[in-house]
Amino acid sequence: MRRVLIGAAMTPAQRQLVETVLHRFGPKAATTDPQAIAPWLSDWRGRYHGQAPALLSPGTTDEVAAIVALAADAGVALVPQGGNTGMVGGATPPADGSALLLSLRRMNRIRSLSPESNLAVAEAGVILADLRAAAEAAGRRFPLDLGARGSATIGGLVSTNAGGTQVLRFGTMRSLVAGVEAVLPDGSIHNGIAALKKDNRGYDLNQLLIGAEGTLGIVTAATLRLVPGMVSRAVAWVGVESPASALALLRRLEAGTSAVESFEILPDKTLELVLRHVPGTRRPLASAQPWHVLIEAVATDAAAEPPAALLERLLAPALEQGLAADAVIAASEAQAESFWRIRHSISEAERAGGPALQHDISVPVEDMPRFMIEGGAEAEARFPGTEAVAYGHLGDGNVHFHVRAPAGVDPAVWYAEDGPRISSHVHDMVVAAGGSISAEHGIGQMKRAELERLSAPSRMTVLRAIKAALDPRGILNPGKLVALAPDAASP
Ligand code: FAD
Ligand code: MLT
Ligand code: ZN
Repeated sequence: MRRVLIGAAMTPAQRQLVETVLHRFGPKAATTDPQAIAPWLSDWRGRYHGQAPALLSPGTTDEVAAIVALAADAGVALVPQGGNTGMVGGATPPADGSALLLSLRRMNRIRSLSPESNLAVAEAGVILADLRAAAEAAGRRFPLDLGARGSATIGGLVSTNAGGTQVLRFGTMRSLVAGVEAVLPDGSIHNGIAALKKDNRGYDLNQLLIGAEGTLGIVTAATLRLVPGMVSRAVAWVGVESPASALALLRRLEAGTSAVESFEILPDKTLELVLRHVPGTRRPLASAQPWHVLIEAVATDAAAEPPAALLERLLAPALEQGLAADAVIAASEAQAESFWRIRHSISEAERAGGPALQHDISVPVEDMPRFMIEGGAEAEARFPGTEAVAYGHLGDGNVHFHVRAPAGVDPAVWYAEDGPRISSHVHDMVVAAGGSISAEHGIGQMKRAELERLSAPSRMTVLRAIKAALDPRGILNPGKLVALAPDAASP
């Protein structure tokens, strides 16, 4: 039996499991080397830091199943991890080292990709950008995109029911997943990978696993829906007076075409932040505008109206009627990419821009303009010195409502003392508006207490019952999304 290099202290049960994994599946399947583990112990924003005495990296579904069965028998907790780009601390292990990390990154095969059936079967560790490239090479598209495309994995995207910038036309991952293969908390394999148009065998286990954040099973592969490839696209940057004008512009475009796939809003102060922190970015418009919208229209049929002509035809009257104040349609792919680079760099710019509290929220779409303005003013009035910025997926009724700290605060103190009060206030405003405290990023550890606080008892009772039914020993991703018992939920 291979002796393991002891990093962080392991319990006898953890050590036994790691040694068995190494013995059965070889040196690639586990490491206890603290240097190899360290990069995976904090979340992307650096807000959560954990410990794990070992990082397990199975290469096949059967290896995942064997590991989970061992863990279930021994009561060893596991934290599933893909690209570690999650925004709610869902992939960060507990700080006490009581859980092992289980990475799906080695399972990175695209098992099949069929242009005929418009389906791809990708293993959990496939990176989003790689799947998108493989689909394009076959004349198709996987229509989900987000700023973390170079790291986010299929397993993570399924497990967080990710959204991104194409939800407007294609929906979230929940709409794009046609089948799921997963290992359940007892080590059994759920084989729901077949893409059946109809399947009414009781509760939909695939849908239950989508968005479960690794708490009900470990996704090992998914069947994903593809759409026709892009023949051409047009990307426009439009200046508008307010979120209300932006939404009216979206409704005007939707009345004229179904080709708009993305419609992203951001305030000028967010554009300013990107220009300040992200080299090589420049203002798309010559005029100063309070709000900006990035619009992408796509043609998938060579006979269709070219998207640039389509947007020009629809934006011209909007400009004449004051719905839009200024607009530019990218004159080249390079310029189109430069517009998108601004949008997808916001998170990175924010990380460089100092302490801020992130709230990924949704309210009914028609109420979003009012929420963005009034909610922002209310937050700033209630917490003097802060700056509320809201940007993102306006057409989905989902914005990232971020509250930036006053200048000069001690970040750790501000996060610890003001943070909970500010986030609770924002969430209270969202719930009062009939919205959700998590639109696309999930709950993770970041919002678990707020989910408890703000949910109807019936919702928490059912969530806990499902967790207890599938994972009675609580070995999968403890401390995330929902606890087994109410008292365990307290932060
Ligand atoms: P991880 O971060 O590794 O894990 C996320 C969660 O899923 C954790 O709870 C983890 O335990 C669980 N998990 C991971 N793999 C598995 C598996 N195989 N089986 C079971 N559970 C698993 N998200 C959006 O929705 N929309 C956006 O527009 C968006 N933009 C982003 C932009 C940037 C710059 C960044 C850094 C992130 C962004 N995200 C966005 C968040 C993030 O990319 C998504 O949540 C993504 O789905 C996470 O994928 P991942 O592979 O990194 O998962
Ligand atoms: C985005 O839309 O940019 C992402 O969801 C990340 C974020 O919340 O900043
Ligand atoms: Zn987003």
